[in-house]
Amino acid sequence: MGVMLGYRLFQLLMLPLVGAATSAAAPLPGCRTRCGEVDVPYPFGIGPNCSREGFSLDCNTTTGGHEKLFVFNVEIVNISLPLGQARMLNAISWQCYNVSTNSIDYNTWSLNLTNTPYRFSDDLNKFTAIGCDTSPTSEISKGPTATRADACLCVTTSSCSGIGCCQTTIPKDLAYYEVWFASNFNSSSVWNFSDCSYAVLLEANRFEFLTSYITTTQFWYNNNGTAPLVVDWAIGNETCEVAQRDKTSYACISEHSECLNSSNGPGYLCNCLRGYHGNPYVAQGCQDIDECSDKDQYPCHGICQNLPGSHNCFCPVGTYGDAVNGTCTQTQHQKLPSSAKVAIGKSLFFPP
Ligand SMILES: *[C@@H]1O[C@H](CO)[C@@H](O)[C@H](O)[C@H]1NC(C)=O
Ligand SMILES: *[C@@H]1O[C@H](CO)[C@@H](O)[C@H](O)[C@H]1NC(C)=O
Ligand SMILES: *[C@@H]1O[C@H](CO)[C@@H](O)[C@H](O)[C@H]1NC(C)=O
Ligand SMILES: *[C@@H]1O[C@H](CO)[C@@H](O)[C@H](O)[C@H]1NC(C)=O
Ligand SMILES: *[C@@H]1O[C@H](CO)[C@@H](O)[C@H](O)[C@H]1NC(C)=O
Ligand SMILES: *[C@@H]1O[C@H](CO)[C@@H](O)[C@H](O)[C@H]1NC(C)=O
Ligand SMILES: *[C@@H]1O[C@H](CO)[C@@H](O)[C@H](O)[C@H]1NC(C)=O
Ligand SMILES: *[C@@H]1O[C@H](CO)[C@@H](O)[C@H](O)[C@H]1NC(C)=O
Ligand SMILES: *[C@@H]1O[C@H](CO)[C@@H](O)[C@H](O)[C@H]1NC(C)=O
Ligand SMILES: *[C@@H]1O[C@H](CO)[C@@H](O)[C@H](O)[C@H]1NC(C)=O
Ligand SMILES: *[C@@H]1O[C@H](CO)[C@@H](O)[C@H](O)[C@H]1NC(C)=O
Repeated sequence: MGVMLGYRLFQLLMLPLVGAATSAAAPLPGCRTRCGEVDVPYPFGIGPNCSREGFSLDCNTTTGGHEKLFVFNVEIVNISLPLGQARMLNAISWQCYNVSTNSIDYNTWSLNLTNTPYRFSDDLNKFTAIGCDTSPTSEISKGPTATRADACLCVTTSSCSGIGCCQTTIPKDLAYYEVWFASNFNSSSVWNFSDCSYAVLLEANRFEFLTSYITTTQFWYNNNGTAPLVVDWAIGNETCEVAQRDKTSYACISEHSECLNSSNGPGYLCNCLRGYHGNPYVAQGCQDIDECSDKDQYPCHGICQNLPGSHNCFCPVGTYGDAVNGTCTQTQHQKLPSSAKVAIGKSLFFPP
């Protein structure tokens, strides 16, 4: 009969982490900061001595001639320093019925982020399964103990938008997941309706379920067999307070930066203080925001005065009003005591 049931094939995406020899406390002057369309800010880096330990990435040219950024063999399409997140393209696991051979073909994936700075974002990702009469299952292991979660049975859930699609959440601090399809996926009445099932951990708010995904291969081909996945990343495995004790390894080296504990697993992040922007992981990386040159975000209908880390917006002498939200109006009788003008200016002090 040739039908394979309950078979698991693990294609481990991850390779061992590159060693400390390729890491650096600060990037060399010649290091690349961009790969294709993606900005690569420190602590990330491309090539030897260009990244912090564990943050080295590859920038490879594909056969199509495009540069793409990879961690191991997973493509990265976005890195956010303030959020401590990166967006990856996660491979979609599939299982299809092959009419000509009357067998089940499949390709299932796992992703092992153990001992890397990355964790699957529990806020933004959902384990998502598409198909009918399937029971894709994801095994999630956390630290030394492994838990197994029966993800969903399409028939009994109405998430996504109905039968044929289901989603479940994942726990915090998750570094490993794998997909397999349970064995009861062999009813010929289902095959006529839907040849394939799919399962992947993906960024939920970038996913919109279409019923055509049940009956076509569109979901897989949309993005060449991948779906966006958000990972949270963090520096090291200690809290801010502990990390700050070792100045040689502490990552928040810019003036006007601050440390934040990771909200998803161990480690910490650096952010620029309010009123500053830039890269807190490099010396002098956090620069004052010139609020006065960004009227969209920092509206000011009066006199704008940029200050280190903040700004003032006040009505010119001889006028009064709400210079931030409203307008400054000519003072009618010029009787306003000068102390009141000062008070107006002070009250309109707005940190961003
Ligand atoms: C990287 O740093 C190591 C140690 O500091 C040094 O020996 C090596 O030459 C550097 N490599 C490059 C390519 O600069
Ligand atoms: C990218 O190139 C590096 C160096 O040639 C290689 O080790 C790595 O496997 C490549 N990664 C991918 C995903 O092609
Ligand atoms: C990267 O993130 C930025 C900001 O959130 C967004 O505008 C951009 O579309 C993203 N790029 C990709 C390839 O996801
Ligand atoms: C079915 O299996 C045969 C033999 O392995 C293969 O050549 C064919 O491409 C498969 N058909 C589909 C639709 O995957
Ligand atoms: C994940 O990777 C870690 C470290 O590389 C390894 O110890 C662990 O066995 C891997 N887990 C699985 C399920 O392969
Ligand atoms: C379908 O699966 C059931 C149990 O999972 C098994 O008993 C049955 O023989 C399978 N049918 C086919 C056609 O493989
Ligand atoms: C599925 O297709 C087979 C062969 O084409 C047919 O005999 C069977 O009746 C179909 N089942 C359903 C539920 O349509
Ligand atoms: C789709 O993936 C294949 C295999 O990974 C690759 O060779 C091809 O260039 C990709 N196509 C696009 C448009 O990304
Ligand atoms: C924390 O990281 C250090 C350095 O990478 C490592 O030696 C240590 O074992 C880690 N501790 C824990 C609890 O993971
Ligand atoms: C980080 O976490 C530790 C332990 O939970 C806590 O004591 C500390 O206040 C936190 N630090 C910051 C900056 O949130
Ligand atoms: C300006 O408008 C914002 C939002 O509408 C409001 O929160 C703020 O209090 C206003 N400021 C003043 C000075 O009225």
